[in-house]
Amino acid sequence: MRIRAIVKEVKMENGTKESFGSKLGFILAAAGSAVGLGNIWRFPYLAAQYNGAVFVIIYIILALTFGFALMVTEICIGRKTGKSVISAYGNVHKGFSFLGIIATLVPLIIVPYYCVIGGWVCKYFFSFVTGQGTAAAQDGYFSSFTGEWLSPTIFFLIFAILTGLVVMLGVQNGIEKISKILMPVLLVLIIGIAIYVMTLPGAIDGLRYYLVPDFRGYTFKQFIDTVVAAMGQMFYSLSLAMGIMVTYGAYMRKEDHVEKSVLQIEFFDSLVAVLAGLIIVPAVIIFSGEEALGAGPSLMFVTLPKVFQSMPGGQIIGTAFFLMVILAALTSSISLMEVVVAVVMEKLNMKRLPACLITFGAIIILGMLSVFGYSIWDTFTIIGYQFLDFFDFISNNVMMPILALLTCILIGWVVRTESVEQEVLVSVDRFKTRKLYKVMTMIICPIFMIIILLNSFIKF
Ligand code: PHE
Repeated sequence: MRIRAIVKEVKMENGTKESFGSKLGFILAAAGSAVGLGNIWRFPYLAAQYNGAVFVIIYIILALTFGFALMVTEICIGRKTGKSVISAYGNVHKGFSFLGIIATLVPLIIVPYYCVIGGWVCKYFFSFVTGQGTAAAQDGYFSSFTGEWLSPTIFFLIFAILTGLVVMLGVQNGIEKISKILMPVLLVLIIGIAIYVMTLPGAIDGLRYYLVPDFRGYTFKQFIDTVVAAMGQMFYSLSLAMGIMVTYGAYMRKEDHVEKSVLQIEFFDSLVAVLAGLIIVPAVIIFSGEEALGAGPSLMFVTLPKVFQSMPGGQIIGTAFFLMVILAALTSSISLMEVVVAVVMEKLNMKRLPACLITFGAIIILGMLSVFGYSIWDTFTIIGYQFLDFFDFISNNVMMPILALLTCILIGWVVRTESVEQEVLVSVDRFKTRKLYKVMTMIICPIFMIIILLNSFIKF
């Protein structure tokens, strides 16, 4: 998406709004922002941690119901108002303009730690490209890397500077074009690696864990925890409840079908996530045993080098894989940073360069907290979380549910769902999933959000 041009246009707000040149352009841009570390790094470790298949099934159900309703809502708010996120909610209803501020705070919290993880991916790319893939596959490689502060800081800075430079120079166009070509390459690589993992001895146990739900000894508390984790993941992975889809919606053409586009974005995003899990979850069981399933954020980094080490040509495949992941992560971090920069420009009435520098400064400070939290300050915790995990928790399990709940109340009860229905009907004769949409937005989603928020607040 020509984000820079878009920001300019949003700023002008004079009715001469540009839009995507084609239907595919919108879907690819939105999917490009959605597919990122959430799919490849976050989904597999959560699936491994929360009972494999149970998590996968709950995730898919949530994405098709709640995720669907929320994405339709956000895209319609964007398309109807034609405004950037900070003004769009206020445009729907004056009393809800503060939602724009919450929506911008979320990317501000996510993008710094996103850059830290992006830095980890750069480190592994660097290891593979310099022929150290075997070393990277050894136990302890990841923890000794993140356990010291200098090297993770350097790689974090590399990734953050790459993101910042693209946003500052406004060359998103080029990056997104490259990434559109390379996304299919990533998909082919993932499918190829998944097939390879399936041929390894012991893969069947991993597959069973990942695809066949096992409720033996499953408690209600575990179920709630799994739903909460799947819900947070759904927001994160589909780029929901943070204003991104509102911004994209503002540039969707009136003739494009909202329902169909949402389904296509969801399908592509979930496909990449489920396939990444299909590699990582069985591989954990094969190479490290079931006890390693709960490893958390380190899971992909500990597991994938072992897979590459065991396969013929693994050094080259590993190098290509990590490079593709860097690109996928970059397009996501760029669109996250762009939201923040756009708001700083609009609200503080600043030019692009100073707005970028301020945002970049905030990213560096918050990102360093995450780096230090895993190394020299690893004994320091907030409500039991290290910095990085705390930022992840506060955004996915607190702020996004709050935003989602208030959006549902705004659309479901204040301005009523008809306003969104009308926007969907601009391009089609029938809103096929209208009933589902209505029930989700008015009743089921708000109840879910309240349960999730209560569950999160218990932690404080
Ligand atoms: N959805 C992206 C991912 O899965 C993260 C992201 C969120 C990117 C919001 C942009 C905006 O990695």
